[in-house]
Amino acid sequence: MKEREQWGSRIGLILAMAGNAIGLGNFLRFPVQAAQNGGGAFMIPYFISLLILGIPLMWVEWGIGRYGGKLGHGTAPGMFDAMWKNRAAKYIGILGVFLPLVVTIYYTYVCSWTLAFSVFSILGSYPKPQLAGSITASEYLKPYQNYLYDFIGASTGGTFLSPEPIAYIFFVITLVLAFWILGKGVSAGIEVLNKIAIPALFIMGLILFLKVLTLTSPTNPDYTVTKGLSFLWEPDFSGLLSGKVWLAAAGQIFFTLSLGLGAILTYASYVKPDEDIALDGLSTASLNEFAEVVFGSTIAITSAVVFFGPTGAGEIAKGGAFTLGFISMPAIFTHISGGQFFGFLWFLLLFFAGITSVVALAQPVIAFFEDEFGLERKKSVAIIGTVCFLSAHLPIFLNGSLDEMDFWAGTFGLVILALFEMIIFFWIFGAEKAWEEINRGAKIRVPRIFFYIMKYVTPAFITIILVAWAYEQLPEIISKGDGGVWATRVFLFLLLALNIALVELVWKRRRQ
Ligand code: ALA
Repeated sequence: MKEREQWGSRIGLILAMAGNAIGLGNFLRFPVQAAQNGGGAFMIPYFISLLILGIPLMWVEWGIGRYGGKLGHGTAPGMFDAMWKNRAAKYIGILGVFLPLVVTIYYTYVCSWTLAFSVFSILGSYPKPQLAGSITASEYLKPYQNYLYDFIGASTGGTFLSPEPIAYIFFVITLVLAFWILGKGVSAGIEVLNKIAIPALFIMGLILFLKVLTLTSPTNPDYTVTKGLSFLWEPDFSGLLSGKVWLAAAGQIFFTLSLGLGAILTYASYVKPDEDIALDGLSTASLNEFAEVVFGSTIAITSAVVFFGPTGAGEIAKGGAFTLGFISMPAIFTHISGGQFFGFLWFLLLFFAGITSVVALAQPVIAFFEDEFGLERKKSVAIIGTVCFLSAHLPIFLNGSLDEMDFWAGTFGLVILALFEMIIFFWIFGAEKAWEEINRGAKIRVPRIFFYIMKYVTPAFITIILVAWAYEQLPEIISKGDGGVWATRVFLFLLLALNIALVELVWKRRRQ
């Protein structure tokens, strides 16, 4: 068996895992999900989902990953096959390669916008309309919306997008940077990136957090920071009774912690055999939650409430993550002292959060080529880099393609993979063996109650989510869609078929 790479240090590993989890989801997706689902009403299902879904799955993925890595497998096809002697196992595992690849394709593009906008911020190139007390949030935001839509080429509508050349250039820069880092390897590339980017991200988050706490409203003295904070933090127990709020909260937990995406599995496959994964897994989740709940909940939403009032902020959140991050924030930065600098910090923070997740999402498929085909790292990186570059032309030029990919991989697919992980690890591989695997090397063992949560509660909860999702959203999603959306579906189908063919090839060679 080929010697596999390992993380260089424990702190490097934890920062890399934190970088894997902390992403655009923390700063853009989370506040929007929370605001769209009743603010305080969202937070209670969110924390319950973290406890019975997020943290258990985090331990499970670390456990499966370390187990697989020891046997020379960095991705789910090999890992599942090792744990379950059934022909189906490796095919199910394909999700652990396919899903992160799809997310990498569109996520890299969005990540490149953050780099571009950090440059636009420092150069002060946004529009600067005057704030007049009587205009509504949407009127005020219009020039900023035009600015974003011109950049990504969405102003005219229709099937095709026509982004500005600069958007394409920033995409290429981001992609090349990410794959250059990946080419350097797990320790010399990914780990080094995270050792710089994650501490920097926390410092920038803290600066922005403090700045937001000192904001005063230029439009209405009633729009205070306290009002902004209570937008999300006023407890409201009504959310407990809403299926929609539970789905949104659980979905956010999956995405933000990078669970069900194969990315944590792969990173965990590079840990040392006696690593304390019980503590490391918990540290990863805690760092992610700190970034999400403290910085993610405060920066964008509170400042939107201060500027546009609770109703305006609600409208902005309805517009989605891009409206909040790329339209509302530039509008706010234009009107605060030091706005150019703070705008730069905001987008740089997003870029660091994004690029550390891009490398984590691209790594599984690279590891698949290395481990299962015995390909050299540089060659795997070159192949996957090219595939991502070419595939990204869909979300760049095809209207609706980005959302479609995000739905199948980032909203739906990850729940399915997570369910299989729980079943294969705790029910097929064996609950006691799985429990021992998670606790091996742990200085403080995971409390026994989590054994029962992992065995019964988490899989049951995921099943309920899946059924509810399929019932509530699938029919509507499938029935909708124009040419661009269907083209994306065909592309995803072909990409999945290619993944299946590759797995077939690997196992055929192995049998010979
Ligand atoms: N976990 C990553 C994020 O939150 C994918 O963006």
